[in-house]
Amino acid sequence: MTTPFTYQFGYSWPVAWGHLVPFVLFGGLAVLGIRRGWRRWLVSASWLLAVWAAAGLLITHFMFRINLPQPLATEQFLASGSGRVVDVGAGSGRATVGLLLARPRITVTALDIYDGYYGIDDNTPERLMENARIAGVAERAEAKVGDARQLPFASETYDGVISVAAIDHLPRAGIPKALAEAARVVKPGGEFLLTIVNADAWAWLASPHAIAHHRPPDRAQWRGLLQASGFEVVEEGTMPGALYFFSRKHP
Ligand SMILES: C[S@@+](CC[C@H](N)C(=O)[O-])C[C@H]1O[C@@H](n2cnc3c(N)ncnc32)[C@H](O)[C@@H]1O
Repeated sequence: MTTPFTYQFGYSWPVAWGHLVPFVLFGGLAVLGIRRGWRRWLVSASWLLAVWAAAGLLITHFMFRINLPQPLATEQFLASGSGRVVDVGAGSGRATVGLLLARPRITVTALDIYDGYYGIDDNTPERLMENARIAGVAERAEAKVGDARQLPFASETYDGVISVAAIDHLPRAGIPKALAEAARVVKPGGEFLLTIVNADAWAWLASPHAIAHHRPPDRAQWRGLLQASGFEVVEEGTMPGALYFFSRKHP
């Protein structure tokens, strides 16, 4: 059975487990308040905060799947079941591993700049490959250091590109460059599954402190950027805390 402890995706303790602090603190206060006969509103408020923290922890792990392989946002992506894919901004491999498990005949090149902090401790190609080994898919994965804005690959070499919570983390000017690079490396008719963070109700419920600086993505703007890069968006939708666009490169 896969649990939040099976893999080593390495999201920092405050990101993955930070809700435990208010859960223990306010849960403890609520219990203490009951024993000592504190005012009802104080005990109720403590319970409420403890319940919120527990909900946040469950959402983070079982809906956002912070320490679990990412399931495919759409079954349409490489429905043929085979091909070569590049994962742009692969990090410690949540999306790479999820894709390799979902499509047992594909190979994935996991590309990341592996520089700077994006919520993952010790974010390295070695960590990604270790996760691929845990999943039993390492022979179909390779990790490469590179920049999404200048992919170190020849044009039209991949059948598909995926990217999860990475291209939307680039400085604004870098986003069209990364989308253009995705279009360049994918074959005509090739597929692109782009997933970005969405400040939806789940994100607000689980992490109001973290999501406060995120505005909900402007769907039309992302669709326009994809089209301007040479993709046709054929499906778009949401997952908890995320928005995805499935598109095909014009033949
Ligand atoms: C929030 S993490 C997401 C990692 C992974 N896709 C996941 O869902 O767990 C964002 C990733 O984007 C990578 N990244 C940021 N800027 C990049 C760039 N210019 N080129 C390639 N990767 C980049 C970071 O190193 C980090 O691993």
